[in-house]
Amino acid sequence: MTDTSTAAGLPKGFRSAEQGWPQLRRIPRPPYRLPLLGDVLGASRTKPLQDSLRHARRLGPIFRRRVFNREIVFLWGAALAADMADESRFAKHVGLGVANLRPVVGDGLFTAYNHEPNWQLAHDVLAPGFSREAMAGYHPMMLNVADRLMDHWDREMAAGRTVDVPGDMTKLTLETIARTGFGHDFGSFERSRPHPFVTAMVGTLTYAQRLNAVPSPLLLRQAARRNATDIAYLNHTVDDLVRARTAGGPGDGDLLDRMLQTAHPETGELLSPENVRRQVITFLVAGHETTSGALSFALHYLSRHPEIAARARAEVDQVWGDTAMPGYDQVAKLRYLRRVLDESQRLWPTVPAFTREAREDTLLAGEHPMRRGAWALVLTAMLHRDPEVWGPDAERFDPDRFEPKAVRSRPAHTFKPFGTGARACIGRQFALHEATLVLGLLLRRYEFRSDPAYRLRVTERLTMMPEGLRLGLERRVGTVQGPVVEEPPSDLRCPVHGSAD
Ligand code: HEM
Repeated sequence: MTDTSTAAGLPKGFRSAEQGWPQLRRIPRPPYRLPLLGDVLGASRTKPLQDSLRHARRLGPIFRRRVFNREIVFLWGAALAADMADESRFAKHVGLGVANLRPVVGDGLFTAYNHEPNWQLAHDVLAPGFSREAMAGYHPMMLNVADRLMDHWDREMAAGRTVDVPGDMTKLTLETIARTGFGHDFGSFERSRPHPFVTAMVGTLTYAQRLNAVPSPLLLRQAARRNATDIAYLNHTVDDLVRARTAGGPGDGDLLDRMLQTAHPETGELLSPENVRRQVITFLVAGHETTSGALSFALHYLSRHPEIAARARAEVDQVWGDTAMPGYDQVAKLRYLRRVLDESQRLWPTVPAFTREAREDTLLAGEHPMRRGAWALVLTAMLHRDPEVWGPDAERFDPDRFEPKAVRSRPAHTFKPFGTGARACIGRQFALHEATLVLGLLLRRYEFRSDPAYRLRVTERLTMMPEGLRLGLERRVGTVQGPVVEEPPSDLRCPVHGSAD
């Protein structure tokens, strides 16, 4: 007999909304539904998320869309999203693009089903790799990679060329996670084209996204063959990396050492070789693709708002002074710069949505019955623009929205760039430290010149990234002073469970 259910007793595979939402008809949908095809009129194959944002604006805080035989519930209203954050009733749902990545990373941390034992094992073994102590150890390596970026940018500037922001941020973040996590150097800055690892990664992410837009994977046969080659390349790269570590002896206690040697503190269990491979790919991908987008959007906004850049720069000057190598503790003190980053992530969260499922039959926000296993997609990118939470000027870039008083005055669970609950981002502090450090270093060294003709376009491959963003650079002369708000630095708690909203 074939097994048609998961260990949690839920049907395997895609669960269309009709199966789990008894009052689905009450949820608005776009007009003009076509038989067999569904709500596809005007739909973009390459920008599904931005399509959903357009529908969200028209249809309100909860809506549904059907693409071929799959009906999906989307939500973004603050009260609905807050209810979905209740861990006692909801959990991560591994579906859509995330489920499509299972052939690449299986039960790796990001794609594991909640019931798979390797999730808890890997979480417990790897979470200490993001403690304050571990982060302080990564800091000098992060500085070193940032230096390589600035050498590259100095050369481009001297040659009178503009710089490719998303391309260079991708090089920076890939080298950072590879060095800090795995003691590996991809040599990205020595290459004129992206490293093949990045090309293969973008290929698998794009394929996972495209699978959602076709009635059957059989229609993507050629792309599937390319995807298989990409997966083979990722596996092969990671296997080489692990073999080199095993042959050369332990590193300096980095993530790879943890994956290979650290036994679970209670059960004594180790990650299996197959699972190590999946975790290495997971961390190499999740650890750089997202942060490079966050840095790129922040640089876009800084270049478009010289007064905000000047204020952030003044803060860097005041906190760092002339220190050539800012220390680990000096990064969290850049409170205004952190707000710039938060505000960029508000408008363009690089992971623009996440999915949640009901643990038992329940009533969402007191209104919408859901059966056990029913799920919905929380549109973070729209939750972050809800005028009821963020005001009538929600589309405006304004880092002061993240002043502590303003944050306290907002309802909980309205800012979720790192997801929610037990399955929230394990690398949150890593990403925030790296991004704040790099933005501080870049602001201190350069003035950014944006092309006035450039209009922000956003490319999607499960994550979001500015398209075609190039900046001119000028070496800074003198220091720029501006108002700086002094606040006590925040402490670093458990990267997932102790993290603030
Ligand atoms: C700005 C940068 C980042 C953003 C916006 C981001 C966002 C997210 C989000 C939204 C989730 C939850 C996804 C879901 O619920 O399905 C997540 C999970 C995860 N992230 Fe990040 N992330 C970032 C950086 C990082 C970094 C630097 C690492 C590793 C060094 C990392 C590793 C992971 C892993 C392993 C998970 C899965 C956690 C689990 O399920 O236990 N991320 N991230």
